Amino acid sequence: MTATVVPDLSPSFAPLRLGSGHRLANRWGVAPLTNQQSHSDGTLSEEELRWLAMRGAGGFGLTMTCAAHVMAVGQGFPGQLGIWGDQHLPGLRRLAGALRASGTVSLVQLHHAGFRAPPSLTGRAPVGPSSDASTGAVALTLAEVVDVRDAFIAAAVRAQQAGFDGVELHGAHGYLLCSFLSPGENRRSDAYGGSLEARWRLLFEILDGVRAACGTGFLVAVRISPERFGLDVREQLALFAALDARGDVDLIDVSMWDVFKRPEDPAFADVDLLTAYTALRRRHSRLAVAGKIATPAEVAAVIAAGAAVALLGRGAILHHDFPRRAAVEATFCPRSLPVPATVLADEGLSPTFIDYMRRWKGFVAEAEPSLDDEGRRWSERRDSNSRPSAPKADALPGCATPRWQGD
Ligand SMILES: Cc1cc2nc3c(=O)[nH]c(=O)nc-3n(C[C@H](O)[C@H](O)[C@H](O)COP(=O)(O)O)c2cc1C
Repeated sequence: MTATVVPDLSPSFAPLRLGSGHRLANRWGVAPLTNQQSHSDGTLSEEELRWLAMRGAGGFGLTMTCAAHVMAVGQGFPGQLGIWGDQHLPGLRRLAGALRASGTVSLVQLHHAGFRAPPSLTGRAPVGPSSDASTGAVALTLAEVVDVRDAFIAAAVRAQQAGFDGVELHGAHGYLLCSFLSPGENRRSDAYGGSLEARWRLLFEILDGVRAACGTGFLVAVRISPERFGLDVREQLALFAALDARGDVDLIDVSMWDVFKRPEDPAFADVDLLTAYTALRRRHSRLAVAGKIATPAEVAAVIAAGAAVALLGRGAILHHDFPRRAAVEATFCPRSLPVPATVLADEGLSPTFIDYMRRWKGFVAEAEPSLDDEGRRWSERRDSNSRPSAPKADALPGCATPRWQGD
């Protein structure tokens, strides 16, 4: 019989002080997670409040909201949380108050869906830095770019008024700010396109505006993608360095989808994404990473590698109190996938959120197979691609629980 190796989690439970002065009680964060639980006008629902307040109370040092749209026309999902008008303030105040009471540091993720804003939700064609035939998106005019910039800044002010500790600018995943950064998607020839600095301009002007309006004590994070979405791996590494060099960005959150994977670009395939980013010099900003960090051992590994914060997405959905459990149970292992809907309900997910999670391959266990008219199990008739995938063994010590499959 082999002895279980228990990972040393103590560094992940060390507090972290950020440039704005905020202190995280530990290095465990809830990644921004769209959950579709808000009301159709973007105001907070009881379900959204409950689900996030449970995470704050569950021992996470940092808790982010889902992507919250900063303009009505920037909505990306049904049931998305809104922060584009003062009508959203009462709900946001309740959410910020509940998170503060639990001791977690709270951020609103600020978002404009850009190319990925469905016309069925917004009533108009999506927008981007340039027109895009595949999505039918139209290029923003210069005046509209300025409106977008001002909407992000106004939303940050609203987050501060509501009592949040800060905001994260969503500059990842092919949404509007990411498209502006992307040489593949931004073909503008004005001040917001062309050179690297011009493509970064919108993000940097928003940062300038947020700092000017919210002050130095407000926590500001930026989420970036390291690759895909027409991005260049080398440019994104340079962007990280430029964000750090500004001196006023608390956290740079690199959304890797799998921290241990190697970049898709073969020219950068000699190291995994985590190593590529932890190797970068940081003078002012702290590094947060997300992507298939599924077990306490993996949290320990990313912190040991040099990341300051490990952001959990699906792990935080599976266990509202993941950090608290890991702190007290040396051999705590998260649930294996797929999980029954009843378990997710106990973890504070509403039926709407559970339905949304059904779109994430292999996450929610299908109902008990029933026999159809022809006496065959319905699950056998389905496309095998839509079945939950089999768990894969964890390579790291301390937990035999699978790493997540697919995205
Ligand atoms: C259900 C779900 C919703 C998500 N919503 C957002 C979002 O609103 N904003 C964002 O930046 N990323 C979002 N992501 C990505 C997560 O923040 C995270 O980076 C990703 O899930 C990888 O972490 P994980 O492997 O621990 O789940 C979402 C992921 C999931 C699974």
